Amino acid sequence: MVRSIFLIGFMGAGKTSVGEVLAKRLGYCFIDLDQRLCERFGIPIPEVFERHGEEVFREAEREELARSAGGRKLVMATGGGTFRSEANREIISSSGGVSVFLDLPWEVLDARLARDHTGRPMYGDAGHAKRLFDSRLPDYRRATVTVELAGSESATDAADRVMAALEEAPCVT
Ligand code: S3P
Repeated sequence: MVRSIFLIGFMGAGKTSVGEVLAKRLGYCFIDLDQRLCERFGIPIPEVFERHGEEVFREAEREELARSAGGRKLVMATGGGTFRSEANREIISSSGGVSVFLDLPWEVLDARLARDHTGRPMYGDAGHAKRLFDSRLPDYRRATVTVELAGSESATDAADRVMAALEEAPCVT
């Protein structure tokens, strides 16, 4: 496996926990895009939204994605909104990276987010999150590879599933 991997999907899909395991397995560097943004602003993400607004967040998100995408082989956990942007999708594909959609049932994401949505300014409430999910699904489906998960898998099992899917995908080698 030779290319950088960008995990995409909705809030609560497990992009960070799966990405950490995947990076270890592959011996790749792991980057959490949200973490990068927290470091850049020096404040937690909800505060970035409060103080600067979503537009400033999205601009910084694009810059940090571009900065990291061209570098050495990595696994990146993107944010739930990253792959919405055509510019971001282009950054990923032109870097030669593979986008992998962690596709979990809405019911699982809903339950996870209802339990804990701290640090997620885009959540709003369950109804808003569902509308956001529905509106983003067509973009998530543009990913190079989709891995359907039940949500009951451990991060290790999910990472195995991602590796298997990448090995099987003819367009990835
Ligand atoms: C966002 C998801 C968050 C974070 C920011 C915006 C979104 O990432 O990037 O709060 O627009 O869905 P997670 O998917 O890791 O929660």
